[in-house]
Amino acid sequence: MPRLETLGVHAGREDFGELGVHAPPLDLSTTYPVRDLAEGTTSFDALVGGAATAANPIYARLHNPTVARFENALAQLEGTTDAVAFGSGMAAMSACLLAAGQRGRHVLAVRPLYGTNDHLLNSGLLGITTRWVEPKGVAAAINADTALVIIETPANPTLDLIDIRAVVKAAGSVPVLVDSTFATPVLQQPAALGATLVLHSATKFLGGHGDVIAGVVACDAEWAAALRQVRAATGGLLHPLGAYLLHRGLQTLSLRVLKAQDNARKLSKLLAGHPAVAKVCYPGLGTVANAHLVDTQMHGPGSLMAFEMHGGHAAASAVMAAVRLATPAVSLGSVDTLIQHPAGLTHRVVDAATQAQHGITPGLLRLSVGIEHVDDLWADLGQALEAAQLSAAA
Ligand SMILES: Cc1ncc(COP(=O)(O)O)c(C=O)c1O
Repeated sequence: MPRLETLGVHAGREDFGELGVHAPPLDLSTTYPVRDLAEGTTSFDALVGGAATAANPIYARLHNPTVARFENALAQLEGTTDAVAFGSGMAAMSACLLAAGQRGRHVLAVRPLYGTNDHLLNSGLLGITTRWVEPKGVAAAINADTALVIIETPANPTLDLIDIRAVVKAAGSVPVLVDSTFATPVLQQPAALGATLVLHSATKFLGGHGDVIAGVVACDAEWAAALRQVRAATGGLLHPLGAYLLHRGLQTLSLRVLKAQDNARKLSKLLAGHPAVAKVCYPGLGTVANAHLVDTQMHGPGSLMAFEMHGGHAAASAVMAAVRLATPAVSLGSVDTLIQHPAGLTHRVVDAATQAQHGITPGLLRLSVGIEHVDDLWADLGQALEAAQLSAAA
C-alpha cells in the first residue's frame, strides 16, 4: 500500500496512462446527451438511488466526473471505500443529518464544535433534536431514536482532543461522525478508529489556498449512497472547478500540513513565553483536554492553536488590528497564517453561557499557522503583541 504522501500525489489519477494526460480533465458540463433512452433511464434511476457512477451521467446534479475524481482520491487518503463532496462543510454536515434522519431524529453531540455546527444542531432547523453530552456520557444518553453521535477532534477553537475509539465503543451500533477538519488525513484517520463518517470542511487544509469553499464526507458505500441521494435531491453540490482545485490541493497536503505544524510547534512555545499571553492551547504543549491522544490517535499536533491574551477583548482586538503578515480573518488551513477572534466571529452564534463554559473567552484568539518562514511570523506576531501591550498601557 503506498504511503500517504504518495497517495496524495497519485490518487484519483489511476487512468491517466490510458487517457494519455498528465493533469485531470475538467468537465464543466451541466447536462449530457442521452442518445440511448433505455440506457439514460437506467442511469437516471441508478444515480437518483445513490449509485457512484452510471453509463450516462445524465445531469451534473446527479454526477460529475471531476468531482468523482476528487472524492475517490480523498477516500483513498482517509482509508474508506467512498467519499461524497458538497458545496461547503455545512452542506456536508446538513446532508449527514438528513441521511441520518432516516434512522432517527435524535443526535448526541460533544462540545465544543465549530460555531455554525453548534448552531445548526441547536436550532432544530432540520427537524433533529440534539442532546449535548460529555464523551463519557455518550453510552447512557443513547435511546432508540438516536441516529448519530457527533464529535470534532481537535475541536474548534479550543483544540481539545476526544478519544475517537472510546466514543465509538460507547456509541455501540450508533454511527459516529468525526469532524476531522483540523487534523486532515495526514494527522488522523478516524475511519481506522471506528468512525462511520469522517467530515471535512474542505475549504480549509484540503484546498489549502483559500480559494475553494467545499465539504466532503468519507464513509462506506452504504452511507455514500444515502448521502448522494440527499445531494441529488437537495442540490448542495460542489462545483467541478472547486473539485479540480481540491484534487490538486491533495498533492501538496502532506507537505503543507507538516511544514505548518513545524512552524506551529515553534510559535506555540514563543507565544507561551510572551508576557502579553496568559495561556496557549495547543496539543503539542499538552495544554488541551486529552493531550496524550496526540501520540495515540494522531500523528502530530497540527498547526492550529488558540491563545488567551492578558487584557481580554481589548487586547485581542488590538492584536487583530496590528498584525501585518498574518491575515486577520476567519477560516484556517491556508498556506498563509490567519488569526481570528472566536467569541466575536466563528463562535458568535453560540450562546454566551456555552462560550464561557468551553473557554471561548473575550481574550481568546485562534491562530492558523501557515507555511511562511517562522522567523517572519514571529516578528509579526511579536510586534502585534507589543502593540496590544502598548495600547493597554496608554
Ligand atoms: C471544524 C469545522 N467544521 C466545519 C466547518 C464548516 O465548513 P464550511 O465553512 O466549509 O461550510 C468549519 C468552518 O470553519 C470548521 O472549522
